[in-house]
Amino acid sequence: MIGEKSQLEYLSKRGNSYDKKYGMFFNLLEGLNVEKVLELFGGVGIQTYYLENHKNITSHTIIERNEECFKILSFMFPNKKIILSDNRVVEYREDYDLVVLDSGMNKSNFNETIELMKRINSKYFIITETGAFRVKFKKDLSHEVHYQEVIQKLNSFGYKVEKVLYEYNYGLILINNDFVGIPSINRNIFSNIEWRDYIKKIKK
Ligand SMILES: C[S@@+](CC[C@H](N)C(=O)[O-])C[C@H]1O[C@@H](n2cnc3c(N)ncnc32)[C@H](O)[C@@H]1O
Repeated sequence: MIGEKSQLEYLSKRGNSYDKKYGMFFNLLEGLNVEKVLELFGGVGIQTYYLENHKNITSHTIIERNEECFKILSFMFPNKKIILSDNRVVEYREDYDLVVLDSGMNKSNFNETIELMKRINSKYFIITETGAFRVKFKKDLSHEVHYQEVIQKLNSFGYKVEKVLYEYNYGLILINNDFVGIPSINRNIFSNIEWRDYIKKIKK
């Protein structure tokens, strides 16, 4: 991530696309009963803000390797456990209810992402998946088929997918290890603008 100011400038220009990203995140969070949460990774803390405002979290750990982001997170969330570190050197000893994985999983880092997930015990994972842009280049491929493939791959490693919401070139995947049934895959119809209030708060 780039420096603090430029990152914030960049975020303020994300407008509509972030309304959608955090609309999806907000929707996936609904109905989840989670108390122990791990965020990989914190960034400037937008998902942290949603989790704090909408869930009753008793233990909230955030990993972030970028120093500027770490400073923002520590300032905005002084009561959370924020670890300035590269995740590859962190040992995950606790069990979590939810792990939020927002570093962009795709074909090229899929195995690495699975290796990371295998190091952590959690009932739910919400993963940002960024491989859907390939739909543009393959005639016979639809988003539905792309996500069916991703779900199958996740299933083959023992992860059960409950829900996928997607936009044109990325999606958010909810893994629920107790889920029994057919996963839903839908183009996103949700928007949420609370992240804009948060950005205003950090800018002050
Ligand atoms: C997309 S941003 C996270 C945004 C955040 N979830 C939010 O909503 O504000 C991804 C972050 O992952 C961090 N990151 C990427 N790889 C990492 C690693 N191996 N260890 C720790 N942090 C990492 C980057 O520094 C960046 O801040």
